[in-house]
Amino acid sequence: MANLGTLCPRHCFLLAVLLLSLSVQTKVLSYQYKVGDLNAWGIPSSSNPQIYAKWSKYHTFGIGDSLLFLYPPSQDSVIQVKAESYNSCNLKDPILYMNNGNSLFNITAEGEYFFTSGKPGHCEQRQRLHILAGNVTATAFAPSDGPSALSDSSAPSYPTVFGTIPAPPSSSPSSPLSVSVVSTIGFVVCALIGGTM
Ligand SMILES: *[C@@H]1O[C@H](CO)[C@@H](O)[C@H](O)[C@H]1NC(C)=O
Ligand SMILES: *[C@@H]1O[C@H](CO)[C@@H](O)[C@H](O)[C@H]1NC(C)=O
Repeated sequence: MANLGTLCPRHCFLLAVLLLSLSVQTKVLSYQYKVGDLNAWGIPSSSNPQIYAKWSKYHTFGIGDSLLFLYPPSQDSVIQVKAESYNSCNLKDPILYMNNGNSLFNITAEGEYFFTSGKPGHCEQRQRLHILAGNVTATAFAPSDGPSALSDSSAPSYPTVFGTIPAPPSSSPSSPLSVSVVSTIGFVVCALIGGTM
């Protein structure tokens, strides 16, 4: 693609930049979070058994955001469960069952959400996720995934690991097309105005 600056007068270029940044700001309101930042929702490795608890603790979620669980569909699944089932690893009567390997859970209300694998035995091995969406206080927490477990001596402490990193939500925009659409519009407007001058 040709350099905008050579095609457009300077103010047109600024207009395009403005449109682009407006679009970016809008997108910030809604994120698609890849659970655990992992390409495979699965049993945590022994080197990072608390990965899901840590991941949820250091992200904030709100209405409109979504959680993307990626996994080989033959090997795993995702179920949304109630707090009690989460705590006891009870896989019966899930609220929602997803097994297509590319499961998008849309957060549509504030509250607490609990997920685990639908595969027997995986929940016990800490393949489970608890998130808070919006301004809510946790009402239930699995002891093994609680804050005290997070500071156990086998795991590096968080201040060391994440001390100065401003924790960007490592997520992809939920509508990746919007940037290119809006910047294309900016570019066209730009070219039109530039052409008439
Ligand atoms: C979440 O929204 C996406 C896109 O609108 C949709 O494909 C998906 O099925 C939804 N997920 C659930 C669990 O409803
Ligand atoms: C969060 O909720 C609490 C209690 O419901 C309320 O006192 C507080 O003002 C809320 N905070 C925000 C930022 O909305």
